[in-house]
Amino acid sequence: MLKHTSDTIEVYLTEEQIATRIHEIAADITARFQGEEVTLVGILKGSVFFLTDLAKRIDLPLEIEFMSVSSYGAMTKSSGVVNIKMDLGSDISGKNVIIVEDIIDTGNTLQRLLELFRSRNPKTLTLCTLLDKPDRRTVKGIQVDYTGFVVPDKFVVGYGLDYNQKYRDLPYIGFVQMEE
Ligand code: IMP
Ligand code: MG
Repeated sequence: MLKHTSDTIEVYLTEEQIATRIHEIAADITARFQGEEVTLVGILKGSVFFLTDLAKRIDLPLEIEFMSVSSYGAMTKSSGVVNIKMDLGSDISGKNVIIVEDIIDTGNTLQRLLELFRSRNPKTLTLCTLLDKPDRRTVKGIQVDYTGFVVPDKFVVGYGLDYNQKYRDLPYIGFVQMEE
């Protein structure tokens, strides 16, 4: 089932594969935080599809928050500041915070986000990403607690991930082959 696109998309992870893996991650999170409440924090916009499916499968009292941050170009990467376009709607101190990301690429965004979140004194801070592209990592020492799939160094779209804001709506994840 391919939705209409002008570029060619090669399916890499089907809806079923994604759903199965999310069930497994949700079960792991449910087991790890038994008797506790968790706060899922989605980093907009890419994590939205993943976060909503994950939240439905986690069997714990749960809150949802979102944060929107702007990504920097190479010139500003050393500034060490995250530009928050939209901050969380509530205080996370004392909470079991689970950051939900679409993909970890270089790790730059996440390194700064982790510093920011730690400074707000959550009870626990857990990192959950649907996709990880370890070959592209430039920031060392980021500990990822839950990873959906490790992907090769190719540009992926769908299930929340975009190419110039397009293809987030695809129910599967694929490699985009740009039209020449
Ligand atoms: P980084 O880890 O700071 O390099 O940035 C990660 C962000 O870049 C992700 O949250 C995505 O928004 C975006 N990104 C990286 N690789 C891809 C990809 O293959 N497809 C779509 N977005 C990507
Ligand atoms: Mg992102």
